[in-house]
Amino acid sequence: MSIEITELRLPDAIDGSPDADAFSEMVRVRNEIEAAIIGNYDLGVEPAELLAIAKNPYDIWRCFVARIDGRVVARGLYEVQGRDDADSAWFQIEVLPAFRRRGVGGALYERLSAIAHDEGRSILQSSAYHLPGGEGEHITSPTGFGSVLADDEPVRFLTSRGFRLAQVERMSRLPLPSGVGEPVAPEGYEVLTWEGATPEEHLADMAVLHARMSTDPPLGEVDWTPEVWDEERVRDNDARRGEDGRLWLTAVVRHGASGRLVGFTDLSVPPEQDRPVFQMDTVVIAEHRGHRLGMLLKRANLHALDTRAPGHPAIYTWNAEENRHMLGVNEAVGFVAFGYESSWRRDV
Ligand SMILES: CC(C)(COP(=O)(O)OP(=O)(O)OC[C@H]1O[C@@H](n2cnc3c(N)ncnc32)[C@H](O)[C@@H]1OP(=O)(O)O)[C@@H](O)C(=O)NCCC(=O)NCCS
Repeated sequence: MSIEITELRLPDAIDGSPDADAFSEMVRVRNEIEAAIIGNYDLGVEPAELLAIAKNPYDIWRCFVARIDGRVVARGLYEVQGRDDADSAWFQIEVLPAFRRRGVGGALYERLSAIAHDEGRSILQSSAYHLPGGEGEHITSPTGFGSVLADDEPVRFLTSRGFRLAQVERMSRLPLPSGVGEPVAPEGYEVLTWEGATPEEHLADMAVLHARMSTDPPLGEVDWTPEVWDEERVRDNDARRGEDGRLWLTAVVRHGASGRLVGFTDLSVPPEQDRPVFQMDTVVIAEHRGHRLGMLLKRANLHALDTRAPGHPAIYTWNAEENRHMLGVNEAVGFVAFGYESSWRRDV
């Protein structure tokens, strides 16, 4: 049995070209592997959706596929958030269940870790999904919140290569419609919502909020490079979102006295009504916390979703298991845990 590993060339668009077809085949395999772990295709993505992420010029995104007898059986992602300045590289290796324990994952790991080494990255990071339950020894997150089964396949794969657990995130699901009514902002604040690209007058404030999103959420022992955002980056981000075929709903809160936006949240809504919605970023800047603005933002965007894009089955969200404030807000609107995502690191 020979394993052939090749790097995919990113297509310009999903346009029927050989590169686009290879990209789409990779996405099908990605979705199949994920569905085998979580039990359904709810977190599956369309090729155009993944391509919009892959084309982010502010990060490095490379994808390798492993073939056995010409058939794609696995993929290996190599990502550097923040490009040249970043200390850490991320990788994600996914092998179809029927092709595991034959060295495919290991071969992809050799390829990806060699790139990180050549680029001089001092930290390698990865992540894996887990469903709750299972008997046996657990490894506890260094934050003290959350744990994973020590003999879970990806856990064994990563620990045997010297990785240690850096953080556990909870994945939660909210059945729709949420039924929340339109919220009332506390005195001194006002809530606004929009669809799609950021209105021109809010670009500067949104750049500040996106940058905060890269520094403020709890990270456990994950290495995350603080991001630099300006108006141009917000425009670029919006433009790529405009190519992914999804509806992006944003809610922001404006501080009356300063006129500045001090928090935002966004939802990513697929065009197909039978697919779930993803909760993306949420942040309230530190100086304005403690006024229940997180709850205000969530409720405003849920209400926008119920009225502007009804009919989807659920929303999925990811939160650090130690992020009690955010989990509290999500639990209050009805999110329920359905699984966990662990993050791992190896300092080289
Ligand atoms: C984790 C994962 C990528 C491993 O892929 P894989 O192809 O089975 O990886 P390998 O075969 O190289 O190594 C896995 C195990 O098989 C063993 N193995 C390797 N070659 C083997 C062979 N020829 N015969 C038997 N066992 C073998 C390895 O020693 C290793 O054992 P260990 O986990 O007890 O240390 C795979 O289980 C997977 O896709 N999981 C879901 C996705 C995921 O969680 N990814 C996150 C990790 S980045």
